[in-house]
Amino acid sequence: MFKIGVLVSGGGTNLQAIIDSITAGELSGIEIASVISSKKDAYALSRAEEAGINAQYIGRGDYKSSAEYERALIDRFEGFGVELVVLAGFMIVLGETFLNAYENRIINIHPALIPSFCGDGFYGLKVHEAALARGVKVTGATVHFVTGETDGGPIILQKAVYINEDDDAASLQKRVMEEAEWTILPEAVRLISEGRLKIEGNIVRRI
Ligand code: GRF
Repeated sequence: MFKIGVLVSGGGTNLQAIIDSITAGELSGIEIASVISSKKDAYALSRAEEAGINAQYIGRGDYKSSAEYERALIDRFEGFGVELVVLAGFMIVLGETFLNAYENRIINIHPALIPSFCGDGFYGLKVHEAALARGVKVTGATVHFVTGETDGGPIILQKAVYINEDDDAASLQKRVMEEAEWTILPEAVRLISEGRLKIEGNIVRRI
């Protein structure tokens, strides 16, 4: 079994998309070994428990430094034999300690077509507000490997979503999730688990 660990902070619809893909038999040989939430009341925790997945709240506030917090996450994941870490709406920026422990083995889903509407400060509804304010006609989602640069790591998959005349930030967020995020995140997990990707500098190639 290829074991993944999922870091969450919120509703967990992307976690649910991975759970559903596994249940549907689309991610054979893949197991969600551990889910960790940075927020105690995150609905993502209930989704994990409902699916019988080991889930735990580990709060940043209980640790003196980021390095100690990240060490706790690493210990937990290593204890479960996690080979790939999926950031699915995780609201804490990971530092060197975690990035070094899981180098080239951390992926993130971002709700825009990187390099548009990404980087520091672009999270949640703000991403979609910025896209609407710029008047772009196409947006989407991106799955990428995580490096020290916010949203700057090698791009794995992207999917476009057309913007409707009557979209507001909330409706656009919902459609980007439904039409892009929930498809490309499980797909990226599958490609990695099958050893189908190779990173060359900042470029991901299919092998
Ligand atoms: C998603 O929009 C994702 O792109 C972003 O955070 C949100 C998480 O949503 N990184 P959910 O918790 O998976 O529902």
